[in-house]
Amino acid sequence: MPQLAGIRACVFDAYGTLFDFASAAASCRDVLGERAPAFSALWRDKQLQYTWLRSLGRQHADFWQVTGDALDHALETLGLADPALRERLMGLYLTLACFPEVPEALRRLRAGGFRTAILSNGTPAMLNAAVEGNGLRDLLDAVVSIEEVGVYKTDPRVYQHALNRLGVRAEEVSFQSSNAWDAHAASAFGMRAVWCNRYGQKPERLPGKPDHEIRTLAELPPLLGA
Ligand code: LAC
Repeated sequence: MPQLAGIRACVFDAYGTLFDFASAAASCRDVLGERAPAFSALWRDKQLQYTWLRSLGRQHADFWQVTGDALDHALETLGLADPALRERLMGLYLTLACFPEVPEALRRLRAGGFRTAILSNGTPAMLNAAVEGNGLRDLLDAVVSIEEVGVYKTDPRVYQHALNRLGVRAEEVSFQSSNAWDAHAASAFGMRAVWCNRYGQKPERLPGKPDHEIRTLAELPPLLGA
């Protein structure tokens, strides 16, 4: 009996879970130098804050704009505002590499009879670029963007939309995210949740509770018996 039983579909967060967003700043070490990791963390923090604040304030703008706005804030904060660097970093965000174990994990899940999908804040164009760039198209049954709902995670309508798209019930979904807050929200919604704690973070104090904590997605197929 697998540790996670009764699952029909595996749904993945995109940024930080399948795709390595830190690789964008890391590619600009020639300009960012030692500040690349701190810069990347600030960019990411602001990007997420803007999604929550825009949803709370009912002032939705898509993830491409939010990502650019957060980038502008981060660049100015570090005294790095420069149009060429901005353009370079935004371009890199469209060509993020996936984490090394991702293709094989998806292949194993599909071979084990599970459906696979992305549920992400990213726009369809951003997600398609990342999926195509990493050759993942044939390993995914669906790529679901919150743009189809018009509000960001963690609004429950976003998780419901993934169920509608896949034609499965919440308890039949294993939802994977490296963002603990995202895993908590999926769990509170009724999905089974796996926190892929790539960054060795401490647990969040939020509603819901991830069923499992793993370090990379290579640990997922065995959990599901795939
Ligand atoms: C996403 C962000 C939250 O892909 O990582 O939805």
